[in-house]
Amino acid sequence: MHVTSADSITAVVGHLPKFAVTNGTVYMNIQTTPEPDSKSPGPKPRAPFRIAMIGFGNVGTGLVHHIREHATLLNERIEGGMEFVGIAVRSLDTPRSVDPPSNTLLTDNWRELVDDPSIDAIVEVVGVGSDGKPTIAFEMARAVLTSGKHFVTANKALIAEHGGELQELAEEAGVLLLFEASVGAGIPVITSLQGGLAANKVNSVHGILNGTCNYILTRMEEDPALLLADAVKEAQDLGYAEPDPRFDIEGDDAAYKIAILGSLAFGQELHISDAEKEGITRLSPAELTYARDNDLALRLIASAVCHPGDRLEVSVRPAFLPSRHVLAGVRGVNNAVLVDAEPIGETLYYGAGAGQGSTASGLLADVITAARHWNPDAGNPHPLRIVRGRKTLVGTGAVRGRHYLRIGDDSIPEPEFACEIIPNEDSGITLITEEITLERLHSFLGMLRQSGIPDEAICHVSFAFE
Ligand SMILES: NC(=O)c1ccc[n+]([C@@H]2O[C@H](COP(=O)([O-])OP(=O)(O)OC[C@H]3O[C@@H](n4cnc5c(N)ncnc54)[C@H](OP(=O)(O)O)[C@@H]3O)[C@@H](O)[C@H]2O)c1
Repeated sequence: MHVTSADSITAVVGHLPKFAVTNGTVYMNIQTTPEPDSKSPGPKPRAPFRIAMIGFGNVGTGLVHHIREHATLLNERIEGGMEFVGIAVRSLDTPRSVDPPSNTLLTDNWRELVDDPSIDAIVEVVGVGSDGKPTIAFEMARAVLTSGKHFVTANKALIAEHGGELQELAEEAGVLLLFEASVGAGIPVITSLQGGLAANKVNSVHGILNGTCNYILTRMEEDPALLLADAVKEAQDLGYAEPDPRFDIEGDDAAYKIAILGSLAFGQELHISDAEKEGITRLSPAELTYARDNDLALRLIASAVCHPGDRLEVSVRPAFLPSRHVLAGVRGVNNAVLVDAEPIGETLYYGAGAGQGSTASGLLADVITAARHWNPDAGNPHPLRIVRGRKTLVGTGAVRGRHYLRIGDDSIPEPEFACEIIPNEDSGITLITEEITLERLHSFLGMLRQSGIPDEAICHVSFAFE
């Protein structure tokens, strides 16, 4: 355990810090609560809302930086003000680019924060394993919620895999599970689904949810000679892609995020395994050339669609969209979510889907929500939440659409649903299908596999928003 000295926060806030001693630990109060006026009657001033954080990496340092920069504003927005009282990390020896707030508890034992009854909410930003799995965050979430504290997280894998169970725990404990930053970082799409769109029936949610893929595709669009591997390398050099980019470019990241949005939109608990997932790994300059020649844009589109008969389709696929479509205008690392609902119609949510500023914005919005619903008797403020176990997901085989198939083999039989066949520059052909069902497409792909054509030799792109 390490206690730093009071300095920087005091200077920023412009008020003398208040100190409290709990279990022998010194905490600093960064709040700007006015002193109670003994002459004026009225309700008793509220005590400050006390938060702590688990994880102090990229996102955690951004959060601390934002709290330092905007302490006065944040405290004005929380009745009684806010106290940042502790941070748990994996190792106290890890060098940090930002100091923890003065006199904040820094511990390598996260349970110390969970066990402190004076803490009202815990923000979890511990990161994910190299396979994108939620790691120890699930254990942390359960411990925090059962201890009666609000739980705020940016962890998409945690919510997509365990959101329903955690929601139940939160409701049993009378606290909130909040995860705005898990999809699109600070873009307020979850708040919008749960709040502003709460009176609507959602028909579909389509999104560009992975900034890394979108950067790669828009770079390949700009430079027709750029190979996928070179665009990935460029994204890595700029810090937009991880050293191991598979979680992003194979579509898993976007699949987690659309599972969360679909769960909220349709009141179902959807998981990554419910999503038909194709990443961008097989795309080449040939697809970008086709897009340019046909006035199309190529994007990785994550979709959760309720088809007639309540058939839910959850997918992540590369798609050609008309270049005038609103999602075609989303370039670089930006994210966007297009929601079609009744009676409102289409609404669009757009912005930076990653980065310290955007993620801090989403996390702190949730902290403010938790502070406003401090009283457990106030109930859950969100009419739309992830409902455990309810699933009416049915097969999407009947879903119709057109498809582009570049096949690196000359010997395939020409299917009757091909409406255009283009010889590839190197070997094989590219087929453009007429409108067919997904069932028919999958049975054709199965037939290709059986005839010995490996999956790697087939590049599939759907046509969307036609
Ligand atoms: N980066 C973004 O733009 C972005 C956007 C939206 C959401 N997110 C999500 O935000 C979360 C955090 O991402 P990040 O990029 O900040 O990760 P990161 O840089 O890898 O930081 C992870 C932090 O967690 C701490 N930690 C790991 N295991 C711990 C344990 N057992 N107990 C206590 N602390 C532990 C680490 O401690 P040490 O420092 O001691 O190693 C480190 O400070 C992830 O879920 C990510 O998906 C990120």
